[in-house]
Amino acid sequence: MPLQFATRLNNVETSAIRELFKLLGKPGIISFAGGFPDSAMFDVEGLKEASNKALTEEPGGALQYGATEGYNPLREQLAAFMQTKGVKDISPEGLIVTTGSQQALDLLGKTMISPGDKVIVEAPTFLATIQCFRLYGADLISAPIDADGVQTDKLEQLIAEHKPKFVYLIPTFGNPSGAMLSRERRKRVLELAVKYQTLVVEDDPYGDLYFGEPPPPSILAMTPEVPGSREWIAHCGSMSKVLSPGLRVGWLIAQPELLAKATMCKQFSDAHTSTFAQATAAQYLKAGRMPATLANVRKVYGERARVMGESLKRELGDAIAFTQPQGGLFFWARLTGAGGKIKDANEFAKRAIEKGVAFVPGVPFYAKDPDVSTLRLSFATADVGKIEEGVGRLGKAI
Ligand SMILES: Cc1ncc(COP(=O)(O)O)c(C=O)c1O
Repeated sequence: MPLQFATRLNNVETSAIRELFKLLGKPGIISFAGGFPDSAMFDVEGLKEASNKALTEEPGGALQYGATEGYNPLREQLAAFMQTKGVKDISPEGLIVTTGSQQALDLLGKTMISPGDKVIVEAPTFLATIQCFRLYGADLISAPIDADGVQTDKLEQLIAEHKPKFVYLIPTFGNPSGAMLSRERRKRVLELAVKYQTLVVEDDPYGDLYFGEPPPPSILAMTPEVPGSREWIAHCGSMSKVLSPGLRVGWLIAQPELLAKATMCKQFSDAHTSTFAQATAAQYLKAGRMPATLANVRKVYGERARVMGESLKRELGDAIAFTQPQGGLFFWARLTGAGGKIKDANEFAKRAIEKGVAFVPGVPFYAKDPDVSTLRLSFATADVGKIEEGVGRLGKAI
Protein backbone atom coordinates (compact mmCIF):
# COMPACT_ATOMS: atom_id res chain seq x y z
CA MET A 1 0.00 0.00 0.00
CA PRO A 2 1.70 3.27 -1.06
CA LEU A 3 1.83 6.22 1.34
CA GLN A 4 -1.27 8.40 1.13
CA PHE A 5 0.02 11.96 1.03
CA ALA A 6 -2.09 14.97 1.96
CA THR A 7 -4.45 16.05 -0.79
CA ARG A 8 -2.97 19.57 -0.67
CA LEU A 9 0.07 18.15 -2.45
CA ASN A 10 -2.08 17.43 -5.49
CA ASN A 11 -1.96 21.13 -6.36
CA VAL A 12 1.82 21.31 -6.57
CA GLU A 13 4.43 19.81 -8.87
CA THR A 14 8.16 19.64 -8.24
CA SER A 15 9.87 22.57 -9.82
CA ALA A 16 10.69 22.36 -13.50
CA ILE A 17 13.79 24.37 -12.65
CA ARG A 18 15.07 21.61 -10.42
CA GLU A 19 14.91 19.24 -13.37
CA LEU A 20 17.01 21.67 -15.36
CA PHE A 21 19.56 22.00 -12.57
CA LYS A 22 20.32 18.30 -12.95
CA LEU A 23 21.86 19.13 -16.33
CA LEU A 24 24.08 21.82 -14.89
CA GLY A 25 26.62 19.30 -13.62
CA LYS A 26 28.00 19.02 -17.16
CA PRO A 27 31.66 20.11 -17.09
CA GLY A 28 32.43 23.56 -18.47
CA ILE A 29 28.85 24.75 -18.47
CA ILE A 30 28.32 28.48 -17.90
CA SER A 31 25.18 28.98 -15.90
CA PHE A 32 22.84 31.94 -16.08
CA ALA A 33 20.18 29.71 -14.54
CA GLY A 34 20.49 30.17 -10.76
CA GLY A 35 18.77 32.74 -8.63
CA PHE A 36 21.69 32.94 -6.22
CA PRO A 37 23.91 35.86 -5.38
CA ASP A 38 27.64 35.31 -6.04
CA SER A 39 29.39 33.50 -3.14
CA ALA A 40 32.54 35.46 -3.95
CA MET A 41 30.69 38.64 -2.92
CA PHE A 42 29.97 37.57 0.65
CA ASP A 43 31.58 39.81 3.26
CA VAL A 44 33.22 36.86 5.02
CA GLU A 45 35.45 39.03 7.23
CA GLY A 46 32.53 41.14 8.34
CA LEU A 47 30.43 38.08 9.12
CA LYS A 48 33.30 36.40 11.01
CA GLU A 49 33.65 39.49 13.14
CA ALA A 50 29.90 39.70 13.68
CA SER A 51 29.52 36.04 14.67
CA ASN A 52 32.51 36.32 17.02
CA LYS A 53 30.96 39.32 18.69
CA ALA A 54 27.63 37.56 18.92
CA LEU A 55 29.25 34.66 20.77
CA THR A 56 31.46 36.83 22.96
CA GLU A 57 29.06 39.58 23.92
CA GLU A 58 25.84 37.64 24.30
CA PRO A 59 26.44 33.89 24.10
CA GLY A 60 23.19 33.16 25.96
CA GLY A 61 21.13 35.10 23.44
CA ALA A 62 22.96 33.71 20.43
CA LEU A 63 22.74 30.05 21.42
CA GLN A 64 19.59 29.75 23.53
CA TYR A 65 16.00 29.34 22.38
CA GLY A 66 14.55 32.74 21.58
CA ALA A 67 11.29 34.63 21.10
CA THR A 68 9.22 33.63 18.06
CA GLU A 69 8.95 37.29 17.00
CA GLY A 70 12.72 37.49 16.74
CA TYR A 71 15.84 38.49 18.64
CA ASN A 72 15.22 42.00 19.95
CA PRO A 73 18.59 43.55 19.03
CA LEU A 74 18.02 42.39 15.46
CA ARG A 75 14.46 43.71 15.39
CA GLU A 76 15.87 47.07 16.51
CA GLN A 77 18.54 47.01 13.80
CA LEU A 78 16.03 46.00 11.12
CA ALA A 79 13.61 48.74 12.15
CA ALA A 80 16.46 51.26 11.91
CA PHE A 81 17.45 49.82 8.51
CA MET A 82 13.87 50.18 7.23
CA GLN A 83 13.81 53.76 8.53
CA THR A 84 16.85 54.56 6.39
CA LYS A 85 14.74 53.27 3.49
CA GLY A 86 11.95 55.73 4.16
CA VAL A 87 9.64 53.68 6.42
CA LYS A 88 9.47 56.36 9.06
CA ASP A 89 6.84 54.86 11.34
CA ILE A 90 8.42 51.44 11.86
CA SER A 91 9.28 50.24 15.38
CA PRO A 92 10.96 46.95 16.38
CA GLU A 93 7.54 45.62 17.44
CA GLY A 94 6.18 46.36 13.97
CA LEU A 95 8.14 43.52 12.39
CA ILE A 96 8.92 39.86 13.02
CA VAL A 97 12.09 38.08 11.96
CA THR A 98 11.50 35.15 9.63
CA THR A 99 13.65 32.30 8.35
CA GLY A 100 14.32 33.96 5.02
CA SER A 101 11.59 35.98 3.34
CA GLN A 102 10.44 32.64 1.96
CA GLN A 103 9.07 31.87 5.40
CA ALA A 104 7.29 35.21 5.51
CA LEU A 105 5.54 34.22 2.27
CA ASP A 106 4.68 30.82 3.69
CA LEU A 107 3.27 32.41 6.85
CA LEU A 108 1.16 34.77 4.74
CA GLY A 109 -0.12 31.77 2.81
CA LYS A 110 -0.87 29.92 6.03
CA THR A 111 -2.61 32.83 7.73
CA MET A 112 -4.61 34.12 4.75
CA ILE A 113 -5.36 31.37 2.22
CA SER A 114 -8.19 28.86 2.55
CA PRO A 115 -8.61 26.29 -0.24
CA GLY A 116 -10.22 27.95 -3.26
CA ASP A 117 -9.33 31.51 -2.23
CA LYS A 118 -8.22 33.74 -5.05
CA VAL A 119 -4.81 35.42 -4.95
CA ILE A 120 -3.57 37.78 -7.64
CA VAL A 121 0.08 37.43 -8.67
CA GLU A 122 2.09 39.01 -11.46
CA ALA A 123 2.62 37.19 -14.76
CA PRO A 124 5.43 36.19 -14.45
CA THR A 125 6.20 35.85 -10.73
CA PHE A 126 8.51 34.06 -8.29
CA LEU A 127 8.18 30.34 -8.81
CA ALA A 128 8.42 29.35 -5.14
CA THR A 129 5.54 31.69 -4.30
CA ILE A 130 3.35 30.05 -6.92
CA GLN A 131 4.13 26.65 -5.39
CA CYS A 132 3.74 27.86 -1.81
CA PHE A 133 0.36 29.58 -2.30
CA ARG A 134 -0.91 26.59 -4.29
CA LEU A 135 0.01 24.31 -1.42
CA TYR A 136 -2.55 26.22 0.64
CA GLY A 137 -5.12 25.75 -2.11
CA ALA A 138 -4.98 29.22 -3.68
CA ASP A 139 -6.59 29.81 -7.06
CA LEU A 140 -3.97 32.07 -8.61
CA ILE A 141 -5.04 34.87 -10.95
CA SER A 142 -2.36 36.44 -13.15
CA ALA A 143 -2.02 40.20 -13.61
CA PRO A 144 -0.03 41.35 -16.66
CA ILE A 145 3.13 43.41 -16.32
CA ASP A 146 5.23 45.59 -18.59
CA ALA A 147 8.59 47.33 -18.12
CA ASP A 148 6.96 49.55 -15.43
CA GLY A 149 5.74 46.56 -13.42
CA VAL A 150 2.17 45.44 -12.89
CA GLN A 151 -0.39 47.18 -15.11
CA THR A 152 -2.55 48.87 -12.52
CA ASP A 153 -5.59 49.40 -14.74
CA LYS A 154 -5.72 45.64 -15.42
CA LEU A 155 -4.98 44.96 -11.77
CA GLU A 156 -7.99 47.03 -10.75
CA GLN A 157 -10.25 45.08 -13.13
CA LEU A 158 -8.98 41.79 -11.70
CA ILE A 159 -9.43 42.92 -8.10
CA ALA A 160 -12.97 44.11 -8.83
CA GLU A 161 -13.84 40.88 -10.62
CA HIS A 162 -12.19 38.30 -8.35
CA LYS A 163 -12.19 39.96 -4.91
CA PRO A 164 -8.89 38.25 -4.03
CA LYS A 165 -7.71 37.39 -0.54
CA PHE A 166 -4.62 39.40 -1.38
CA VAL A 167 -2.41 40.68 -4.18
CA TYR A 168 1.22 39.54 -4.28
CA LEU A 169 3.72 41.86 -5.98
CA ILE A 170 7.50 42.05 -6.36
CA PRO A 171 7.54 45.73 -7.29
CA THR A 172 11.28 46.34 -7.39
CA PHE A 173 13.49 44.38 -9.82
CA GLY A 174 11.16 41.40 -9.68
CA ASN A 175 12.18 37.78 -9.99
CA PRO A 176 12.06 36.88 -12.82
CA SER A 177 10.88 40.07 -14.56
CA GLY A 178 13.58 42.50 -13.40
CA ALA A 179 10.84 45.13 -13.81
CA MET A 180 10.51 48.19 -11.60
CA LEU A 181 7.05 49.41 -10.70
CA SER A 182 6.85 53.14 -11.40
CA ARG A 183 6.23 55.60 -8.57
CA GLU A 184 2.88 56.52 -10.08
CA ARG A 185 1.75 52.90 -10.17
CA ARG A 186 2.96 52.31 -6.60
CA LYS A 187 0.64 55.06 -5.45
CA ARG A 188 -2.17 53.56 -7.52
CA VAL A 189 -1.61 50.17 -5.87
CA LEU A 190 -2.03 51.85 -2.47
CA GLU A 191 -5.22 53.54 -3.65
CA LEU A 192 -6.57 50.22 -4.92
CA ALA A 193 -5.72 48.52 -1.60
CA VAL A 194 -7.81 51.11 0.23
CA LYS A 195 -10.61 51.31 -2.36
CA TYR A 196 -11.14 47.53 -2.46
CA GLN A 197 -9.99 46.86 1.15
CA THR A 198 -7.52 44.33 -0.22
CA LEU A 199 -4.28 43.22 1.37
CA VAL A 200 -1.24 43.82 -0.85
CA VAL A 201 1.92 41.83 -0.16
CA GLU A 202 5.09 43.61 -1.23
CA ASP A 203 7.97 41.15 -1.58
CA ASP A 204 11.18 43.14 -1.68
CA PRO A 205 14.39 41.10 -1.56
CA TYR A 206 16.00 43.04 -4.44
CA GLY A 207 15.13 46.70 -3.77
CA ASP A 208 18.59 47.53 -2.38
CA LEU A 209 20.33 46.10 -5.43
CA TYR A 210 20.04 49.10 -7.76
CA PHE A 211 22.77 50.05 -10.20
CA GLY A 212 22.23 53.72 -10.91
CA GLU A 213 19.53 55.98 -9.54
CA PRO A 214 17.72 54.51 -6.51
CA PRO A 215 14.28 53.07 -7.33
CA PRO A 216 11.13 54.79 -6.02
CA PRO A 217 10.41 54.18 -2.32
CA SER A 218 8.87 50.83 -1.43
CA ILE A 219 5.08 50.64 -1.47
CA LEU A 220 5.28 50.38 2.32
CA ALA A 221 7.34 53.57 2.54
CA MET A 222 4.73 55.39 0.43
CA THR A 223 1.74 54.54 2.66
CA PRO A 224 1.73 58.03 4.29
CA GLU A 225 0.77 59.41 0.85
CA VAL A 226 -2.50 57.44 0.82
CA PRO A 227 -4.51 57.74 4.05
CA GLY A 228 -5.70 54.40 5.41
CA SER A 229 -3.33 52.32 3.28
CA ARG A 230 -0.80 51.23 5.93
CA GLU A 231 -2.99 48.47 7.33
CA TRP A 232 -3.46 46.96 3.87
CA ILE A 233 0.25 46.48 3.16
CA ALA A 234 2.40 43.54 4.21
CA HIS A 235 6.09 43.83 3.37
CA CYS A 236 8.69 41.04 3.18
CA GLY A 237 12.38 41.89 3.42
CA SER A 238 15.50 39.74 3.22
CA MET A 239 19.21 39.74 3.95
CA SER A 240 19.72 37.01 1.35
CA LYS A 241 20.56 38.85 -1.81
CA VAL A 242 22.84 41.50 -0.38
CA LEU A 243 24.48 39.77 2.58
CA SER A 244 24.02 35.98 2.65
CA PRO A 245 21.14 33.63 1.85
CA GLY A 246 22.67 30.99 4.13
CA LEU A 247 21.96 33.19 7.16
CA ARG A 248 18.23 32.71 6.45
CA VAL A 249 17.30 36.09 7.86
CA GLY A 250 14.22 37.80 6.52
CA TRP A 251 11.43 39.87 8.04
CA LEU A 252 7.76 40.57 7.79
CA ILE A 253 6.09 43.93 8.41
CA ALA A 254 2.31 44.02 8.64
CA GLN A 255 -0.55 45.34 10.72
CA PRO A 256 -0.52 44.02 14.34
CA GLU A 257 -3.35 41.50 13.96
CA LEU A 258 -1.79 39.82 10.92
CA LEU A 259 1.64 39.89 12.54
CA ALA A 260 0.23 38.17 15.64
CA LYS A 261 -1.39 35.41 13.55
CA ALA A 262 1.81 34.94 11.54
CA THR A 263 3.81 34.72 14.77
CA MET A 264 1.45 32.07 16.09
CA CYS A 265 1.89 30.02 12.90
CA LYS A 266 5.66 30.47 13.02
CA GLN A 267 5.68 29.11 16.54
CA PHE A 268 4.32 25.78 15.29
CA SER A 269 6.67 25.84 12.32
CA ASP A 270 10.19 26.53 13.59
CA ALA A 271 9.65 28.14 17.04
CA HIS A 272 12.01 30.94 15.96
CA THR A 273 14.65 31.77 13.39
CA SER A 274 18.16 30.62 14.41
CA THR A 275 19.23 32.89 17.27
CA PHE A 276 22.86 32.49 16.19
CA ALA A 277 22.05 33.78 12.70
CA GLN A 278 19.94 36.60 14.14
CA ALA A 279 22.61 37.68 16.62
CA THR A 280 25.20 37.60 13.83
CA ALA A 281 23.01 39.70 11.55
CA ALA A 282 22.33 42.14 14.41
CA GLN A 283 26.05 42.57 15.10
CA TYR A 284 26.71 42.98 11.39
CA LEU A 285 24.18 45.78 11.05
CA LYS A 286 25.32 47.38 14.31
CA ALA A 287 28.93 47.45 13.08
CA GLY A 288 27.75 49.73 10.28
CA ARG A 289 29.08 47.53 7.48
CA MET A 290 25.91 47.47 5.40
CA PRO A 291 26.45 50.68 3.38
CA ALA A 292 29.87 49.50 2.10
CA THR A 293 28.51 46.02 1.35
CA LEU A 294 25.60 47.51 -0.59
CA ALA A 295 27.91 49.81 -2.53
CA ASN A 296 30.07 46.83 -3.49
CA VAL A 297 27.26 44.53 -4.67
CA ARG A 298 25.63 47.37 -6.60
CA LYS A 299 28.88 48.08 -8.42
CA VAL A 300 29.73 44.47 -9.29
CA TYR A 301 26.23 43.36 -10.33
CA GLY A 302 25.69 46.62 -12.20
CA GLU A 303 28.78 45.98 -14.29
CA ARG A 304 27.71 42.39 -14.98
CA ALA A 305 24.24 43.55 -16.01
CA ARG A 306 25.74 46.12 -18.37
CA VAL A 307 28.00 43.53 -19.99
CA MET A 308 25.19 41.01 -20.33
CA GLY A 309 22.93 43.59 -22.00
CA GLU A 310 25.60 44.62 -24.47
CA SER A 311 26.55 41.01 -25.23
CA LEU A 312 22.93 39.98 -25.80
CA LYS A 313 22.44 42.82 -28.27
CA ARG A 314 25.68 42.00 -30.07
CA GLU A 315 25.28 38.20 -30.20
CA LEU A 316 21.53 37.74 -30.55
CA GLY A 317 20.49 40.99 -32.21
CA ASP A 318 16.79 41.27 -32.94
CA ALA A 319 16.19 37.57 -32.19
CA ILE A 320 15.77 38.60 -28.54
CA ALA A 321 13.90 41.49 -26.88
CA PHE A 322 14.42 42.70 -23.32
CA THR A 323 14.43 45.75 -21.08
CA GLN A 324 17.80 46.48 -19.51
CA PRO A 325 17.32 45.86 -15.75
CA GLN A 326 18.16 48.78 -13.46
CA GLY A 327 18.78 46.45 -10.50
CA GLY A 328 18.29 42.95 -9.13
CA LEU A 329 19.86 39.81 -10.52
CA PHE A 330 17.91 39.04 -13.70
CA PHE A 331 17.25 39.72 -17.36
CA TRP A 332 13.80 38.74 -18.52
CA ALA A 333 13.79 38.31 -22.28
CA ARG A 334 11.52 37.22 -25.11
CA LEU A 335 12.56 35.33 -28.23
CA THR A 336 11.10 37.24 -31.15
CA GLY A 337 11.61 34.64 -33.89
CA ALA A 338 13.04 37.39 -36.09
CA GLY A 339 14.85 36.09 -39.18
CA GLY A 340 13.33 32.65 -38.67
CA LYS A 341 15.27 32.16 -35.40
CA ILE A 342 13.97 29.93 -32.63
CA LYS A 343 10.94 31.23 -30.69
CA ASP A 344 10.40 28.48 -28.14
CA ALA A 345 12.54 29.03 -25.02
CA ASN A 346 12.30 25.38 -23.91
CA GLU A 347 13.78 24.29 -27.22
CA PHE A 348 16.37 27.06 -27.01
CA ALA A 349 17.36 25.93 -23.48
CA LYS A 350 18.08 22.41 -24.76
CA ARG A 351 20.21 23.70 -27.62
CA ALA A 352 21.98 26.12 -25.27
CA ILE A 353 22.93 23.30 -22.87
CA GLU A 354 24.46 21.45 -25.81
CA LYS A 355 26.56 24.55 -26.51
CA GLY A 356 27.59 24.76 -22.83
CA VAL A 357 25.36 27.50 -21.41
CA ALA A 358 22.24 27.33 -19.25
CA PHE A 359 19.31 29.60 -18.44
CA VAL A 360 15.75 29.07 -17.24
CA PRO A 361 12.87 29.05 -19.74
CA GLY A 362 10.04 31.35 -18.64
CA VAL A 363 7.15 28.88 -18.52
CA PRO A 364 7.34 27.85 -14.81
CA PHE A 365 7.16 31.51 -13.72
CA TYR A 366 3.58 31.80 -14.93
CA ALA A 367 0.70 30.72 -12.72
CA LYS A 368 -1.46 30.43 -15.86
CA ASP A 369 -1.14 30.84 -19.65
CA PRO A 370 2.66 30.81 -19.94
CA ASP A 371 4.44 32.65 -22.72
CA VAL A 372 6.79 29.98 -24.13
CA SER A 373 9.00 32.54 -25.83
CA THR A 374 10.22 34.00 -22.52
CA LEU A 375 13.35 33.20 -20.53
CA ARG A 376 15.27 34.33 -17.47
CA LEU A 377 19.00 34.96 -17.46
CA SER A 378 20.87 35.67 -14.23
CA PHE A 379 24.00 37.79 -14.44
CA ALA A 380 24.85 37.34 -10.75
CA THR A 381 27.23 34.42 -10.52
CA ALA A 382 29.33 34.60 -13.69
CA ASP A 383 32.10 37.22 -13.99
CA VAL A 384 32.15 39.54 -17.01
CA GLY A 385 34.45 37.25 -19.01
CA LYS A 386 32.17 34.29 -18.48
CA ILE A 387 29.13 36.41 -19.28
CA GLU A 388 30.59 37.38 -22.65
CA GLU A 389 31.59 33.79 -23.36
CA GLY A 390 28.22 32.39 -22.25
CA VAL A 391 26.21 34.88 -24.31
CA GLY A 392 28.49 34.07 -27.27
CA ARG A 393 27.41 30.44 -26.85
CA LEU A 394 23.77 31.55 -26.76
CA GLY A 395 24.42 33.29 -30.08
CA LYS A 396 25.55 29.97 -31.53
CA ALA A 397 22.57 28.09 -30.11
CA ILE A 398 19.84 30.34 -31.46
C1 LIG B 1 11.09 37.32 -5.20
C2 LIG B 1 11.69 36.50 -4.11
N1 LIG B 1 11.10 36.45 -2.92
C3 LIG B 1 11.61 35.73 -1.93
C4 LIG B 1 12.76 34.99 -2.09
C5 LIG B 1 13.23 34.17 -0.94
O1 LIG B 1 14.45 34.60 -0.43
P1 LIG B 1 14.94 34.29 1.02
O2 LIG B 1 14.04 33.27 1.64
O3 LIG B 1 16.33 33.78 0.88
O4 LIG B 1 14.87 35.60 1.77
C6 LIG B 1 13.42 35.00 -3.31
C7 LIG B 1 14.63 34.20 -3.53
O5 LIG B 1 15.04 33.88 -4.62
C8 LIG B 1 12.87 35.78 -4.36
O6 LIG B 1 13.44 35.83 -5.58
